[in-house]
Amino acid sequence: MPEMPIHPLIAARRSARAFDPGRPVEAAKITALLEAARWAPSCANRQSWRYVVCRGPSLDALRGCLNAGNNWAVHAPLIVAVVTRSDLGCRITGRDYAGLDLGLSMENFILQCVAQGLIGHPIAGFDEEQAKTALGVPPDHRIFALLIVGYPGSEELLDETALAKEKAPRTRLPREETVFWEGWGKPGA
Ligand SMILES: Cc1cc2nc3c(=O)[nH]c(=O)nc-3n(C[C@H](O)[C@H](O)[C@H](O)COP(=O)(O)O)c2cc1C
Repeated sequence: MPEMPIHPLIAARRSARAFDPGRPVEAAKITALLEAARWAPSCANRQSWRYVVCRGPSLDALRGCLNAGNNWAVHAPLIVAVVTRSDLGCRITGRDYAGLDLGLSMENFILQCVAQGLIGHPIAGFDEEQAKTALGVPPDHRIFALLIVGYPGSEELLDETALAKEKAPRTRLPREETVFWEGWGKPGA
């Protein structure tokens, strides 16, 4: 039987790096991204995500926190810091759900980006302490990721390394390696 296609929004999403630095994201679109994030599911509806939106003076400060390999992100007009504190989420028999809540909310945000013609690229490669200081995030909170957001732009702004990553084919582990049926390690029929 032929495989059914996945939803076009999911198929179109990718962590692109070439942004248009001259095109800001409209306020209404930013609100819609945050609204999409807000309507994510979360354990016991704890909504343990917190977002710090940076498009003004804080943007420059955040740009200074990027790891060298993420330099491409300096061209994005919007960066959103994704923050949590582990006890904001549920803890169920030792399982801590704040990070999972965060991930679900982030993916809502990212798919809303795609729906609005935007790139939404999550990154973990940044100096967290520096970013926390720049944004005044309390010491007991963690910045798990930065969402790099903007309209697609020219690849000419990318350095060699970023360009190579941009052009590299997207890959995934074979499904058999990550999905089991009817029990651990059992391949599908
Ligand atoms: C938690 C997290 C951290 C990531 N950190 C970085 C990063 O620091 N730099 C980067 O270029 N991409 C980063 N990415 C993007 C991944 O590299 C990307 O999602 C993966 O290669 C799959 O490619 P795709 O998103 O285009 O499908 C991160 C993604 C996630 C979910």
